This record gives sequence, C-alpha cells and structure tokens, in this order.
Amino acid sequence: MAERYAKITGWGKYVPERVLTNADLEKMVDTSDEWITSRTGIKERHIRAEGENSSDMSVKSAKAALQVAGLTPGDIQLIIVACSSPDYYVPSVASQVQHKLGAECGAFTLSAGCSGWVYALVTASQFIQSGAMDNILVIGTEVISYAVDYTDRSTCVLFGDASAAVVLQPSLEPAGVLTYELGSDGSGAEFLIVPGAGCAIPNSQRVLDEGLSYLKMNGPEVFKFATRTVASSMKRVIDRAGLLPEDIQLFIPHQANARIIETAARMMRQPIDKFYMNLHKYGNTSAASVPLALVEAFEEGRCKPGDKIAVCAFGAGLTWASAVIQLGVGETSAAHTFLSMGRARYYARRTVNAVQDAAQNVMLQVAIKRYEISKWWEN
Ligand SMILES: CC(C)(COP(=O)(O)OP(=O)(O)OC[C@H]1O[C@@H](n2cnc3c(N)ncnc32)[C@H](O)[C@@H]1OP(=O)(O)O)[C@@H](O)C(=O)NCCC(=O)NCCS
Repeated sequence: MAERYAKITGWGKYVPERVLTNADLEKMVDTSDEWITSRTGIKERHIRAEGENSSDMSVKSAKAALQVAGLTPGDIQLIIVACSSPDYYVPSVASQVQHKLGAECGAFTLSAGCSGWVYALVTASQFIQSGAMDNILVIGTEVISYAVDYTDRSTCVLFGDASAAVVLQPSLEPAGVLTYELGSDGSGAEFLIVPGAGCAIPNSQRVLDEGLSYLKMNGPEVFKFATRTVASSMKRVIDRAGLLPEDIQLFIPHQANARIIETAARMMRQPIDKFYMNLHKYGNTSAASVPLALVEAFEEGRCKPGDKIAVCAFGAGLTWASAVIQLGVGETSAAHTFLSMGRARYYARRTVNAVQDAAQNVMLQVAIKRYEISKWWEN
C-alpha cells in the first residue's frame, strides 16, 4: 500500500474582539509598557467577551478551517481540541465543540499545556497515515484569561485568549508532519501550575483565600527550560528529517516571549526573520499559539506549497513538542483516484453499517416491548 501522509488542507482562526493593551495593564498593576515590551515583546492581547467560552471560540475557528478545506461538519471523522481552559472540567470541551458544530464523530480534549496543539497534530496524523480516517479537525483553543490573576504582574501581562484550527486529510505526496518529538518532564510541574481546584487541593475556602485556582509561574525557571529546549528540540526533528536548519523556510516557535525566540534563532545560527512572530498582537495564547501563528503565516503568504516549516511549543507539564511540517503541493491524478477509491469504500461500508444498525434497532425495540408485555402480564 502506498505511503499516506496527513496534509493540512484547511486552516482558520478566531480571536476575540476585546483588546487589553500594555497601557491598560499599567492602570491595573505596577508595570509599564517599557518593561513588558523589553522583557517579552508583547504589546497587546485579546480577551474573550463575557459568556464566550472555549467551545464557542473553537467552533468559530473550526468553521473557518472547514470552509478553506471545502468540507462540512458532517465530513469530519474526529475532532481533537487541545485546551487547558475548557468550559467545564467535565464534560470534555471537545464534545461541546462536536455538538455545536453539528458534527457526528468522536471528539476528545488533549491537555499538554501550551504544547497541546502540536501533540494533537501529531496524534491526528497517526489516524490519517494509518488509513483509519480521512478528515480530522485539530483545534487549539484557550480562554486562559479565566485562570489569570490580574493582580499578579508577573503573569497577567503575558497571556491572551484565541483559537485556531486546521483540517488534516490524506495525501500520497510528502506533506504534513514529516518528523516529530513529544517531550515531558513532570519534575518541573510546580514551575507553571494551577495548584487548586483539582483533586490534589479540592475546591475549598483555602483555594479561594489563597487564589490557588489561578495560574502560578516561576518565570525565570520556565525561561531557562524554554531556551534550553526550543533550539535543541527543533534541531533534532530537522536532523531526523534528513535536513539542515538552512533547508527550513519558516520556523514557528511558541509565541511566549520574543527573547526566547531570539535565543533559539542564535543557537540555530538562522536569521531572526525566518522565525515567525505575532506575539506582539496576542501575547501567549497557550495551545492556540502555534496554530494561530501558522494560520497567520499562511494568510500573509509567508509560506507556500512545498515549504518545510519547523514548529516547537513548550509549556506546563513541563512539556514540549516539535515537528517538521511540509506544506502539500498539488496531488497527482493517481493519488486522487487512490484516495477517492478509499473514500468510496468508506461510504459503502458506512451505508452497510447503517442498514445493519437500523435492523438491530428494530430488533431491540421488539425485545424491549416483549419484556414490558411480560412484566405487565406477570402483574
Ligand atoms: C516572565 C518573564 C518575562 C520575567 O522576566 P525576567 O527577566 O525573568 O524577570 P524576573 O521574573 O526575574 O523579575 C525581574 C523583576 O521584574 C519584576 N517584574 C515582574 N513582572 C513585572 C511586570 N509585569 N512589570 C514590572 N516589573 C515586573 C519582578 O518583580 C522582579 O523585580 P525584583 O527584581 O525587584 O524582584 C520571563 O521570566 C519569562 O518570559 N519567562 C518565561 C515565561 C513563559 O514563557 N511562560 C509561559 C510558558 S508556556
């Protein structure tokens, strides 16, 4: 069987309207535009409207991605939402997204902090490459502002809300994730943590009094971890793809801090203008950060079919995830035939299954009726 790749065929984003600028933050905490800009590169971030939840934002970016791919929600076979700020702890935000989108498929939420979307992209690619599925939505969304303490100047200047999504579909030409690395070092858990309201420290007066349901961060430790990780992890996935950093057309690192990105560029001996940055507009949007940058790079024409992109995210866990992604070029007609045959088999199988399900359902209803009649007869 020919090798299958998981090509990105659709992309979309949603960013809430409300903007929180450095000037706004100057009025809320003891900080300055000069401090935030020089230490992070961030100028403003977007914050959700009241009542706007992660599922709502995900649906908007997903619809945009489906439109680019020319698909409807009914075509989607799996939805993965990378998110650490779900609408509820239970149920999974991915099921809310599936329902609000009107899709009929499996859906699950993936939590790996800011690295979540790259983890989700790699996971989704496996389903496509194995031949198990044809159309998957991979969404990264955060309403991280809900967990930010706007009296804590060391964290509140960093984060913003956003959502971005891609559609993955099969391709017979090299496209999508070529190589990847998924990493975790749980010994660094305390460096970036929401300590309260989980089962370790359940909801209580203490959680409220000590603000334990807010995000706590040891900035310098996370900074050191990130600078150690980004360049080295990217180098490994590039090397594994049989490439050199020079062969990469665009680097898309996690948009947490411009200084971390500049350090990575220096360590890779690559010009900084090959490193995409939009953090000045959005701040750190956690799991939405890398896909939002990818979508904007597409929209701005910063990359073209055939280009190789290296992505790297890092965050709570501590986790990190890197990948080399190739943008698909036009597929050959042979590939189209092969893929449409695959799809035809899929739809035929689905029709047979639907008929079998309907027959089974009738038999089940009959069995239930017989049971009810026998109970009625006994009484
Ligand atoms: C958060 C970060 C910008 C802080 O920059 P830094 O140079 O490490 O600064 P420090 O934390 O050492 O603090 C230096 C001083 O600035 C102060 N400070 C912190 N936040 C401030 C703010 N918003 N405005 C003004 N001063 C601030 C500190 O209180 C400290 O003051 P002190 O020296 O009087 O104690 C930086 O550590 C960072 O980006 N870390 C990585 C964070 C990250 O990427 N998190 C997300 C991972 S997904």
